Amino acid sequence: MEPGVEAAAARLGRARRVTVITGAGVSAASGIPTFRGAAGLWKTYRPEELATPGAFAKDPRTVWEWYDWRRQAIAAASPNSAHETIAAWSLRFEEFTLVTQNVDGLHELAGTLGVIRFHGSIWILRCAVSCGARPDGWEDRTAPLEDLPPRCPECGGLARPGVVWFGEAIPGDALESAWRAVECDVCVVVGTSSLVMSAASLVDEARARGAYTVEVNPEATPASSRVDCAIAGRAEEVLPEIERLIRARA
Ligand SMILES: NC(=O)c1ccc[n+]([C@@H]2O[C@H](COP(=O)([O-])OP(=O)(O)OC[C@H]3O[C@@H](n4cnc5c(N)ncnc54)[C@H](O)[C@@H]3O)[C@@H](O)[C@H]2O)c1
Ligand SMILES: [Zn+2]
Repeated sequence: MEPGVEAAAARLGRARRVTVITGAGVSAASGIPTFRGAAGLWKTYRPEELATPGAFAKDPRTVWEWYDWRRQAIAAASPNSAHETIAAWSLRFEEFTLVTQNVDGLHELAGTLGVIRFHGSIWILRCAVSCGARPDGWEDRTAPLEDLPPRCPECGGLARPGVVWFGEAIPGDALESAWRAVECDVCVVVGTSSLVMSAASLVDEARARGAYTVEVNPEATPASSRVDCAIAGRAEEVLPEIERLIRARA
């Protein structure tokens, strides 16, 4: 058992308000590569060269081919034991919020309640010219997509993935809800490099407001030295271990 698992379970066992923050590492065991791992590469491109407004403006077809490839991989994937543990927590704790940077929808598929999506969803499309007919976009779960690049059903202009790209802002309502949710007893950050500022500052804020903070990640991140309890392990192993201990103590 990784050091820290017992301490995290003890705190969670008596917590009333719990907030979990997740990144791409939670979905790694479901076969969905993280951006920064070697498996995140597609053809010769790095994700940072594709997930940007500039890349889309220059070559929407290539960007859409990459999203279409990711959509197919995600459509074939299932939630893993990390998603399932978090879903169980969302039912158990009196107050529970999940803030996720993931766009794959696997938390929702696992049945998690109270999901705040920081980076949108790969299953939502939006009008790229913002014609205004469908400001929140529309759901399209076809994978592969029939026509690339897909078009806005209202104005016929280009459609874009309903995700937040590098250089774009996190939706204001998601930020506000997340800021409220870090008022909690225990805050667990799982599978994110914490390089994206927002995730890192949420954990800092939780701690500043008195929460016990836990990180689960096989690698050290900028957050590791700032949390109360850094657990060096994989989400799909560590979270079920914590859950077993909580149940054993109850
Ligand atoms: N599944 C998805 O929806 C998905 C996948 C890749 C990227 N993205 C997007 O790209 C952005 C990249 O930022 P990020 O910080 O989330 O991801 P990232 O790729 O920067 O970092 C992933 C982190 O997960 C850790 N990790 C790897 N395997 C793990 C495991 N089994 N258990 C726990 N942790 C593990 C790594 O050490 C790393 O710190 C995201 O915010 C998201 O919008 C989404
Ligand atoms: Zn339109």
